[in-house]
Amino acid sequence: MKARLDKILADSGLGTRSSVRNLIKSGKIKVNDVTQKDPGRKVDTDKDRITYGGEDISYSEMVYYMLNKPAGVITATEDKNQKTVLDLITDKKRRDLFPVGRLDKDTVGLLLITNDGALSHRLLAPGKHVAKKYLVRVDGIITEEVSSAICSGVDIGDDKPTAPAELDTIKQIEDTDAVIYEAVIKITEGRYHQIKRMFEAFGLNVIYLKRLSMGSLTLDPDLKEGEWRYLTDEEIKKI
Ligand code: URA
Repeated sequence: MKARLDKILADSGLGTRSSVRNLIKSGKIKVNDVTQKDPGRKVDTDKDRITYGGEDISYSEMVYYMLNKPAGVITATEDKNQKTVLDLITDKKRRDLFPVGRLDKDTVGLLLITNDGALSHRLLAPGKHVAKKYLVRVDGIITEEVSSAICSGVDIGDDKPTAPAELDTIKQIEDTDAVIYEAVIKITEGRYHQIKRMFEAFGLNVIYLKRLSMGSLTLDPDLKEGEWRYLTDEEIKKI
């Protein structure tokens, strides 16, 4: 891809457009080992080598991160008071990253972070029905009735009931103080607080929620909460 040197540097996360311009003008950037002081100089990211202080600047047009979101962090790009999921990506290759979809502050698990707007649209568009799987724990019993109602669709106070969901591996969790049930739920919509509201419709509070997968993308079991990794080429192709 050919683009202006200042744009490439800003997009690759080195700084704002004006701060990278200053770096360029002060002779700190080299293109193919030659100092380049013109911010508007066109550079070919496939062929030219850009360095800052001797270090290569890596430029990728599209980047994809898998984050295991921890609780207590909000799904936003920036916030004055609270930690965001973007704050957890320590190796930001681009400045235009955003999370694909939203997990509640107390929800943990799979979150895709990218700058690929077309992909985000494909995954989130209401008509696409991309399946999302969550592990859910509730403070009460997931009875046959609750389970079959959730599978056929629940009135959660919106214009229409939720689309049919799937509930699997329903079981009671060992706990001495309370009756806790766990299940894997698969939904194809992304309404606000959807899973919490689906169980609340039956008087059950969600006490733990973890996203396990989204479409073909599955949370890497080796990622601890708060950790991230780049998507593999195969994951990118499939998603
Ligand atoms: N449903 C919820 O209620 N919360 C989430 O974070 C995701 C799905």
